[in-house]
Amino acid sequence: MTDVRQADSVVSRLFTSEQGGHEQVVLCQDRASGLKAVIAIHSTALGPGLGGTRFYPYASEDEALEDALNLSRGMSYKNALAGLDHGGGKAVIIGDPDTVKSEELLLAYGRFVASLGGRYFTACDVGTYVADMDVIARECAWTTGRSPENGGAGDSSVLTAFGVFQAMRASARARWGAPTLRGRRVGIAGVGKVGHYLVKHLVEDGAEIVITDVRDEAVDRIRAKHPQVAAVADAERLIRADLDVYAPCALGGALNDSTVPALTATIVCGAANNQLAHPGVEKDLADRGILYAPDYLVNAGGVIQVADEVHGFDFDRAKAKAAKIFDTTLAIFARAEADGVPPAVAADRLAEARMAERVPADTWILPV
Ligand SMILES: NC(=O)c1ccc[n+]([C@@H]2O[C@H](COP(=O)([O-])OP(=O)(O)OC[C@H]3O[C@@H](n4cnc5c(N)ncnc54)[C@H](O)[C@@H]3O)[C@@H](O)[C@H]2O)c1
Repeated sequence: MTDVRQADSVVSRLFTSEQGGHEQVVLCQDRASGLKAVIAIHSTALGPGLGGTRFYPYASEDEALEDALNLSRGMSYKNALAGLDHGGGKAVIIGDPDTVKSEELLLAYGRFVASLGGRYFTACDVGTYVADMDVIARECAWTTGRSPENGGAGDSSVLTAFGVFQAMRASARARWGAPTLRGRRVGIAGVGKVGHYLVKHLVEDGAEIVITDVRDEAVDRIRAKHPQVAAVADAERLIRADLDVYAPCALGGALNDSTVPALTATIVCGAANNQLAHPGVEKDLADRGILYAPDYLVNAGGVIQVADEVHGFDFDRAKAKAAKIFDTTLAIFARAEADGVPPAVAADRLAEARMAERVPADTWILPV
């Protein structure tokens, strides 16, 4: 049973704390299909909220609500720095997608998103896929991440990896003076959808690559295509290997009190969301002289890709926008140096300034 005090505390956090301030939170229920969902819109200062739908077996309704609030807030920052005319929104559907997901449930969910009249655009996230978005889109015009046959952009990991590569090139330029990974040793933890495209970019650029993945087949797939890529047993070994760049491309929390002191790389730049395990890790990285490219800036290529669907998807236009992650990364490093703060703090400040001033994408100028 839901703990009322706990629910109260989430509500008071929403209305009074700095982490709150969300414009709208919608609880959705359709008993016929078993749908229980939360749609959270953090900000529409820059345009309609945009963010994916997470389908996950949360331990409690409170945990789901908490996740929706955190994730939607994160999307406001990500979309602001990505130069999109979108605010932050995110939805969570409660339950195990393997057992709960059905066409009926997705259609019911689509009707709830549609009821917001365009204040929130949805997309894929953990537990939801392009095929699910095609179903949701039957009830809801504000659906992105659909299949190309249905006017969508398809797999967003293509431009996510491209954006990570741009941020890595910018990091190399800031650290070593040239925007290339040629001759550098890059370690990638997690070679799934994003990681395997990243390997391709790095091979073409002339980097030396070391990978790890908990799934042997993911490693084998890379090594079959690129036999020169080395592999180690796990992420523990990877961070201790002799690396120039570490790219976390698996789960969140990769940078924590035990991994940061062990890192040999002097650049961290990867696709994973929420890489910093807790506040303060960004300072630990800076204190060790490690250049950290903020995760939500680095991995924005995917949201840039789906945002383009709203205008009728054009891959080249979306790719050109994702290429700008290079300039934004350099601008953030410059701002961090000027302000004497870690890049993660500088990124937050730039995003907050754009939201506060409600600067449209076409007039937004990076401070370099
Ligand atoms: N796909 C996108 O467009 C996109 C966009 C933005 C952010 N991201 C983030 O990037 C990360 C990767 O996304 P993805 O779409 O490639 O996911 P994915 O599930 O396809 O790939 C993740 C890979 O990491 C591996 N892995 C899991 N735990 C590991 C561990 N402890 N050590 C080593 N490998 C491990 C998995 O086996 C898998 O191969 C996630 O954090 C995701 O949230 C993805």
